[in-house]
Amino acid sequence: MNLYINQLNKKADFKERVYAGDIFLDTALQAPAELCAFARQSITAAFDGETDHKALHTKMPVTEFIRLVTRLKGQFTNCLDVKEMIRRFALEIGIDPNEYLFDVPRLRVVPNYEYLHAGVSYAYKPHRDTWYGSSQAQINTWMPVYTIEPGQTMMINAGYFAEPVKNSSVDWSLNEWINVQRPLAGSNVTEEVRVHPLPLEEISTASELRIAGNAGEMLTFSGAHLHGTVANHTNETRFSVDFRLLHIADLLSGRGAVNVDSGVKDSEAGYKDLFHLNDFSSFQGVNQ
Ligand SMILES: [Fe+2]
Repeated sequence: MNLYINQLNKKADFKERVYAGDIFLDTALQAPAELCAFARQSITAAFDGETDHKALHTKMPVTEFIRLVTRLKGQFTNCLDVKEMIRRFALEIGIDPNEYLFDVPRLRVVPNYEYLHAGVSYAYKPHRDTWYGSSQAQINTWMPVYTIEPGQTMMINAGYFAEPVKNSSVDWSLNEWINVQRPLAGSNVTEEVRVHPLPLEEISTASELRIAGNAGEMLTFSGAHLHGTVANHTNETRFSVDFRLLHIADLLSGRGAVNVDSGVKDSEAGYKDLFHLNDFSSFQGVNQ
């Protein structure tokens, strides 16, 4: 497995490297920097003008924090400006928006673990996005909105890329998640009661990679990598932005990373959350 530094815009075939498990770290792209600047503006707006973002969890009861994070996430995800930044990102790295889909961009908010680690700030256990029904062709991006420490980041358990992990994805339904479980995020305060696909064996941390970047420094990696949220025991809230890209022809033909252990049967339930990168229209699946 290889780590490429600042080469996303120099590799026309980068998706093939991603499908093979390679990771890209890009520290100087313009569109991700714009996305992070926009995320900061959005946080200030959602939290009624408060600009000390990393201390937000110290300024209010957790129920108020959840209410405002819910508002923030909804506004950010559905904002046209953000979608246009993702299209500019595609052009910046030299891929054709006509050939790609994206799923809605997300702003993640991870405060101190003891304050909140469920619902809107769920600390993801080690998982592959494919366990949540994502395509094997899914390309993940992830970037911090402020400089972070290893104790605030996302970990990638790189050694498991080609190694099967016993997991509960075969019993998990994306359709049930979208329609029943996901909308319950705001009511999960003290513990996560929503049903997630989980590892059913101990995960070794021997190959765990924690990349502590600065604002707008972007990781790109396969959604089939095992990854998760590092429990944030610092007293600073972590903000990150992520979105996913999918090459349409690869999705429809089943190309992508090798599936070593995902058992989800209703992946197509997630197609309605995908949009064409050229005009932001909804993806209609295999029959279009
Ligand atoms: Fe994930």
